[in-house]
Amino acid sequence: MQLPVAKPVPGLGGSFFTLVPLQQPPVLELLHPEEKAIWDALAAESRKREWWAGRIAARAALLAIDVENAALVRDERGRPRLVGAGTEDALVSVSHGRRWSAALAAKRSADVAGVGVDLVEPEDIVRLRKLASRFLGEGELDGVVDPELGLAAAWAAREAVAKATATGMWAFAMSRVHLDGFQSEGPHLEVDVPGARLAKLRLEDGTLLVGALADRALVDAARAIASQ
Ligand SMILES: CC(C)(COP(=O)(O)OP(=O)(O)OC[C@H]1O[C@@H](n2cnc3c(N)ncnc32)[C@H](O)[C@@H]1OP(=O)(O)O)[C@@H](O)C(=O)NCCC(=O)NCCS
Repeated sequence: MQLPVAKPVPGLGGSFFTLVPLQQPPVLELLHPEEKAIWDALAAESRKREWWAGRIAARAALLAIDVENAALVRDERGRPRLVGAGTEDALVSVSHGRRWSAALAAKRSADVAGVGVDLVEPEDIVRLRKLASRFLGEGELDGVVDPELGLAAAWAAREAVAKATATGMWAFAMSRVHLDGFQSEGPHLEVDVPGARLAKLRLEDGTLLVGALADRALVDAARAIASQ
């Protein structure tokens, strides 16, 4: 099989995303031995499939920033960790849905210390409606023309920031990140935390992809809050 082609994320210069459909049968030869060792140890078929798809999506996104032969493994808390030559300045994030796995990659730079990506698929909206009162800020979706898209974006923005700061959803992003600029059309998406740049992309099947880049100050601030 051919690796998917990475595309630039509109509105997030320097970052590239890829998508791998989860129906794609895994081609195990494409996994790095360290990735394959983790794949072997996974029990659930669905988890094996998304693990594979996430590695392939990451491989293709990393190629767009000139990183080859990296392995995307995980640390003891499940956070993605890149190993291999040339990965020191590479940042990557992964998200899985029911239909797709996505990856976002960017080079570390003066204003990019973390990247995060999240997918919200149309099926997720029922769960998000139930969760809305637990995470939406007061008036966060006021004036939003398409409230379902706004709700999906409000959730995905938090998850993307959670990943970009590697702090998990509950310790920081869930309560501290709010939409602060949202238009239904186009990539425009802003949140109220300094140091985060976000963009959104709507796939043809209605899936929403949100990417986030976090600067060093935001990563440090989020980690300080998460460790309290
Ligand atoms: C990090 C977090 C945000 C990931 O959530 P998730 O539901 O597993 O979401 P995704 O499928 O989008 O992302 C999975 C990927 O996140 C990455 N990840 C896991 N923990 C992470 C962390 N602390 N920081 C950065 N990335 C992390 C991994 O790469 C993982 O994929 P992999 O194990 O195949 O490598 C998680 O901490 C969390 O709190 N999730 C809440 C989930 C929820 O309630 N969803 C309901 C609404 S639909």
